[in-house]
Amino acid sequence: MSDLLTVSHVTKRFGGLDAVSDVSLHVAKGEIVALIGPNGAGKTTLFNMLTGVIQPTSGEITFAGTAVPGKKPATVAKLGIARTFQNIRLFAQLSVRDNLQAAMTHRYVEHFVPIVLRLPSFYRQEQVATEWTDQLLTAFDLTDVADMDAGNLPYGTQRRVEIARAVATAPEMIFLDEPAAGMNPEETAALRTLIQRLQSEFHLTVGLIEHDMTLVMSLAERIYVLDHGKLIGSGTPAEIQQDSAVVAAYLGGGVHA
Ligand SMILES: Nc1ncnc2c1ncn2[C@@H]1O[C@H](COP(=O)(O)OP(=O)(O)OP(=O)(O)O)[C@@H](O)[C@H]1O
Ligand SMILES: [Mg+2]
Repeated sequence: MSDLLTVSHVTKRFGGLDAVSDVSLHVAKGEIVALIGPNGAGKTTLFNMLTGVIQPTSGEITFAGTAVPGKKPATVAKLGIARTFQNIRLFAQLSVRDNLQAAMTHRYVEHFVPIVLRLPSFYRQEQVATEWTDQLLTAFDLTDVADMDAGNLPYGTQRRVEIARAVATAPEMIFLDEPAAGMNPEETAALRTLIQRLQSEFHLTVGLIEHDMTLVMSLAERIYVLDHGKLIGSGTPAEIQQDSAVVAAYLGGGVHA
């Protein structure tokens, strides 16, 4: 399988601290790959470099054959990368529908509108956006709350809106930074199904940071483990659970797979 994302010897130094240290990894198109490790291991820092939020100190990142370092987040988004944040970032005072429409970026317009506009006397651009929004609202079970302010919704629903908003940009790969944090068991179960659907229905490649090991072990096809900025293990969930270095650094408390 060809790799969609390649990370080669990436380091991020903050002052005297190597938050990410010489990390190399790869993700094939269509995979669900998890990044796990203790608090402060460098997981979010790595996601921030993959999405253009911060620049690596050294190393290479390639997405679909294009170099990511040096590009701003909006430019990286146009390559087909979307993300959610560890702390939810929504337009709290905009409706769910408007949050989704606000995310329909240049990439979306380039990829969808010309196809539709070639059909004579068909939709105008706004109608395409409205239709795509309606499809997303349905797909993410948000139709009932479409006109409510995003900031007034329960936590788990806000997380779902944030994922829907990322999908609204028509990405190829989506990075989710601790999507289950703060969720109750029912919300986490619904999240598992949703992430599986991102892969099966939306044909997305998924990068997942999570501390909920039950969720990680049931979703991820492959896992990378960071500790103090360094990759200390990688493999299938079964391999990771038997990796003594990983168990010592992170999984020692027991995995409830
Ligand atoms: N902008 C920054 N400036 C200085 N240090 C930073 C910065 N961002 C992160 N760090 C440090 O880099 C290290 C890695 O942080 P990071 O947020 O990537 O960890 P994480 O694995 O996502 O942890 P968590 O599971 O708690 O979210 C930490 O020691 C953190 O304090
Ligand atoms: Mg983090």
